[in-house]
Amino acid sequence: MDTKVFINEQIALLQKQIGEGRVLLALSGGVDSSVCAALLQRAVPGRLVCVHVNHGLMRAGESEAVVAQFSGMLGDNLIYVDASDRFLGKLAGVADPEQKRKIIGTEFIRVFEEEAGKLNGIGFLAQGTIYPDIVESGAEGHKAVKAHHNVGGLPEDLGFSLVEPIRDLYKDQVREVGLALGLPPEMVWRQPFPGPGLGVRCLGAITRERLEMVRQSDAILRAMFEDAGLAGRVWQYFTLVPEFKSVGVRDDARTWEYPVIIRAVNTTDAMTATIEPLDIGFLQKVAERILAGVAGVNRVLYDLTGKPPGTIEWE
Ligand code: XMP
Repeated sequence: MDTKVFINEQIALLQKQIGEGRVLLALSGGVDSSVCAALLQRAVPGRLVCVHVNHGLMRAGESEAVVAQFSGMLGDNLIYVDASDRFLGKLAGVADPEQKRKIIGTEFIRVFEEEAGKLNGIGFLAQGTIYPDIVESGAEGHKAVKAHHNVGGLPEDLGFSLVEPIRDLYKDQVREVGLALGLPPEMVWRQPFPGPGLGVRCLGAITRERLEMVRQSDAILRAMFEDAGLAGRVWQYFTLVPEFKSVGVRDDARTWEYPVIIRAVNTTDAMTATIEPLDIGFLQKVAERILAGVAGVNRVLYDLTGKPPGTIEWE
């Protein structure tokens, strides 16, 4: 793919499709939606409205970072919605992964529709869907692996025309486009973060307690990857917390607490992945920090599974 040619073609297509209309985009702050926003802002400046929905499943400090990064570009056209309580309420007690994804996807659309309803003259809805999302959701004749929340969740009667400018691209191509559009490298090289967020890393029925363990351990892992110079080198790295507990001992007393599982993988297109052979000394230091810093955790494990047979996320 020639990146410049792609950008110019897409800008021309978007201008033709959107005309004098206004376009709405759900901006998660991930690479895909950020690149989508930059492309649209270039194509139809001033007529892109972005909504950032905080579903309560964001990483530590993430919503704040999105607002800080995009308010300069979009001004009043950036809308921030804190819907954490609403999402966590709907998810309470739901353990099935596909059902969790559906709830998050549906609720997302509802919040989004409500925000759209408050705006005037929006004719288009943009989505940062990329090619692997389409393949893995079983669309267009492919066998379904997981219901990615960008795909298939939209109700038919939404009343907007759909705009998906990066739907034919793989992740590495999306990054090239982002860089060519002048997005800062730290944004473009940000590791992928799934639409359902930490919701698919707080396994089974989500509780605020375990969600906080995921969030805090993830923040520790990310900071340590950055300090060790691994952040730009490893494709995706994160922590997750399962639903089971195990026995441990701390200060001569028995504990009955959760494990944190570390996952670090490399891939080019997310269709297959290999694990990062992390140094054991580094892993031990990460484990020590997590065990010292995150309440309710008494073990740290490292996932040695490639894709296949594992998927990158556990749900
Ligand atoms: P899996 O777990 O299917 O993940 O091997 C492949 C890549 O996709 C990300 N992922 C998602 N991204 N919505 C997204 O936007 C989703 O529902 C979703 N599920 C997984 C995952 O983090 C990995 O990078």
